[in-house]
Amino acid sequence: MANLHGEVYYPPEEVVARAHVQDWEKLLEEAAADPVAFWEARAKELVDWFEPWERAFDDSNAPFYKWFIGAKTNIVHNALDRHITTWRRNKLAYIWEGEDGTRRTMSYYRLWREVNRFAAILKSMGVEKGDRVTIYMGRLPELPIAMLATAKIGAIHSVVYGGFSVEALAERIEDAQSRVLITADGGFMRGKIVPLKEIADEAVRRSPVVEHMVVVRRTGHEVNMEVGRDYWYHELCQLPVANGTVETEVMDAEDPLFILYTSGTTGKPKGVLHTHGGYQVGIATTLKYAFDLKDEDRWWCAADPGWITGHSYIVYGPLILGATSFIYEGAPNYPYPDRWWRMIEEYGITILYTAPTAIRGLMRFGNAWVNRHDLSSLRLLGTVGEPINPEAWRWYYEVVGKERCPIIDTWWQTETGHFMITPLPVTPLKPGSATKPFPGILAEVVDEEGNPVEPGVEGNLVIKHAWPGMLRTIYGDPERYKEQYWSKYAKQGYYLTGDSARKDEDGYFWIIGRVDDVIKVAGYRLGTAEIESALVSHPAVSEAAAIGVPDELKGNVIHTFVILREGFTPSPELEEELKQHVRHEMGPIAVPAKINFVESLPKTRSGKIMRRVLKARTLGLPEGDLSTLED
Ligand code: WTA
Repeated sequence: MANLHGEVYYPPEEVVARAHVQDWEKLLEEAAADPVAFWEARAKELVDWFEPWERAFDDSNAPFYKWFIGAKTNIVHNALDRHITTWRRNKLAYIWEGEDGTRRTMSYYRLWREVNRFAAILKSMGVEKGDRVTIYMGRLPELPIAMLATAKIGAIHSVVYGGFSVEALAERIEDAQSRVLITADGGFMRGKIVPLKEIADEAVRRSPVVEHMVVVRRTGHEVNMEVGRDYWYHELCQLPVANGTVETEVMDAEDPLFILYTSGTTGKPKGVLHTHGGYQVGIATTLKYAFDLKDEDRWWCAADPGWITGHSYIVYGPLILGATSFIYEGAPNYPYPDRWWRMIEEYGITILYTAPTAIRGLMRFGNAWVNRHDLSSLRLLGTVGEPINPEAWRWYYEVVGKERCPIIDTWWQTETGHFMITPLPVTPLKPGSATKPFPGILAEVVDEEGNPVEPGVEGNLVIKHAWPGMLRTIYGDPERYKEQYWSKYAKQGYYLTGDSARKDEDGYFWIIGRVDDVIKVAGYRLGTAEIESALVSHPAVSEAAAIGVPDELKGNVIHTFVILREGFTPSPELEEELKQHVRHEMGPIAVPAKINFVESLPKTRSGKIMRRVLKARTLGLPEGDLSTLED
């Protein structure tokens, strides 16, 4: 590629030499000419099907698109069953290290056995095809095991991130109507115990649909076990029923695989629904092409399985490709700031995939912590979750990767299921840009009318053609699916991402950030409405508004504005109490950095809080168009 503008990093020769895709530009062109044909070819190449499809793509009921119509499959067949009859049965699927130093490894065969066992247990509890199972755990091998077991029998998993707390969990259980909850006694984080079972108990009191709780023992601390409802996983495993094999359910390509709740504009989290067929094709293709995953790799996606990144690239993607993954339970700087670097050296990790916030956090401790370890096993680095600032990019590239490892900056969303804008290993890189859309993905930056904007001009990021791993609907709320993603550019049929971006003169995409009521805190996705409703559930609070404010380390932090009820007065103690309340309801990631006590909030005449006005005031920026302001 000739003459790119700005700061450009070309891939090292040895990376190019082994790259799966050699001619990026050519592949982009070919795939763009016929995206359906591109994905169809990958579907044949990378996964097995019990029965083939009649048609690869159906847009007759847009925006309810379908892929691989009529095909029969089960993602667990591709992730596990098919490996058991090959040499891979003896290959490590997972290498796990607990924060306390405990180590476990699991071959594909062993993982398959465990999944069969858990599947048998779920069946004996009456879980059937289409039933929802909620999973709420720390980063343990039992988390993928529970997900795979659920999918194996055709049930739908809903994983709730282990850092969420009571109300967040209760709401998600309620919305999914899960009769089974899988959790652990606790998790380790920064040397402390996260009381998962206690939180789960309280959540189930609020959402009493749960009939059975399976509890994995991790911390060993004393927890309440309700007779007839709660069971220890290790005890269930001893039962005669938990033996032998469970048949993998034959699923339609369009049958649901999982629900993953994510934050949107209203208080209620959205249950993003993904299916077996297209999703497996999308994640396997993107992982293979963007990270060049090979059998000898040791892949470390440092996300949490409880978020989409973990679903796609810790659980399903690497297993479908038969890769070896590393999982670490705890905090990156525990007990010392070289914990990650030590583990990369120790386990010979070849690819590290993490969030910019983690990179910035580790960068703070200085280069010496990195340099005391031999990181020469690394060959590729990746980031996800928020824009990476060029300074962190260069540090990651120079200090961690020693200028040998291209940085794969992947832009995507819970809704998209897999990478959408990302370099491949051979792509010339510009720090801070996710480069260009993945082959077969058609993205554009458009103005309010849907016309492409000029290079350098900010606009809405849209996707112009359906893709296989896309969400199929919002669980239980198809209207919201249409409204949220497809109504703004209904005429053109574009998917609205909710991000703003610009393209440069080389056609490279630069993601700016969310334009809706979503805040990205340390890469975690939160909705202003969820934080606000946690605040107003406190007796002192009458109204609340939350905004994201840029932060050097976390990308954004939460600032809130609170109107108190009669009889309450602002004080530092009350501020602390409200923070604790949000922590208890939502979890530590949602705790506001700042609570401002105010007398009124800027509102439109129809009563909607104008968060952008609060944001402008906080940042000392012009307040923009105030014509709709009530007062
Ligand atoms: C943001 C995470 C810039 C973006 C996989 C998107 C990014 C939201 C990047 C989705 C990136 C994700 N560069 N921004 N490489 N990756 N984002 O659903 O705002 O938790 O809309 O999915 O994260 O967050 P979600």
